[in-house]
Amino acid sequence: RTGETGACSTPNRFVPIFPGGCPYVTTVGATYQIPETTVRFSGGGFSDYFPRPWYQHRAVPRYLKTLGSAYERLFNKNGRAYPDVAAQGYRYFIVYQAKVICVSGTSASTPTFAAIIALLNDALLSKGRRPLGFLNPWIYSLKPGVLNDITTGSNPGCGTIGFNATRGWDPATGFGTPDLLRLLKALKL
Ligand SMILES: *[C@@H]1O[C@H](CO)[C@@H](O)[C@H](O)[C@H]1NC(C)=O
Repeated sequence: RTGETGACSTPNRFVPIFPGGCPYVTTVGATYQIPETTVRFSGGGFSDYFPRPWYQHRAVPRYLKTLGSAYERLFNKNGRAYPDVAAQGYRYFIVYQAKVICVSGTSASTPTFAAIIALLNDALLSKGRRPLGFLNPWIYSLKPGVLNDITTGSNPGCGTIGFNATRGWDPATGFGTPDLLRLLKALKL
């Protein structure tokens, strides 16, 4: 992976993180600004331990094709790729030890994305429907245009510019950031 710590193992290989590289979690990258673009600490890449899960069999090879041979020896192209999605992650004002401070990180974008999912589950339950449960198969089955696709910026690391955000899924911002109204509509709510 690149980003967040800019970690790089010797000799020169992206270092995937855990649990972000686990196929059983939903991994959230980060954006900033409006219109949204990738923030450089948005971690992304490919697991060295977990193979590509079935729900990524369409989206990830499509990205790898656009990547070509770039970074060939720096990552495991058959690994679980992440992130799955993204959300704003820059300059959040929080109250910490009775003071307002400003923080940034995927530790900010992740609970933001989770909050949108909580609203979707709330809407489902209020209609007598089941909550979403494990999100990833559903996320990868969404039609293009439901999430805000992020197509600019990258996550530099290991002396490279990292993975570019592109149209469709990419290892910088996944499928992009949530839009509550479009997600409600996708669930026919
Ligand atoms: C990322 O995008 C930049 C700018 O368009 C381009 O020069 C570069 O080759 C791309 N890198 C990769 C790894 O796709």
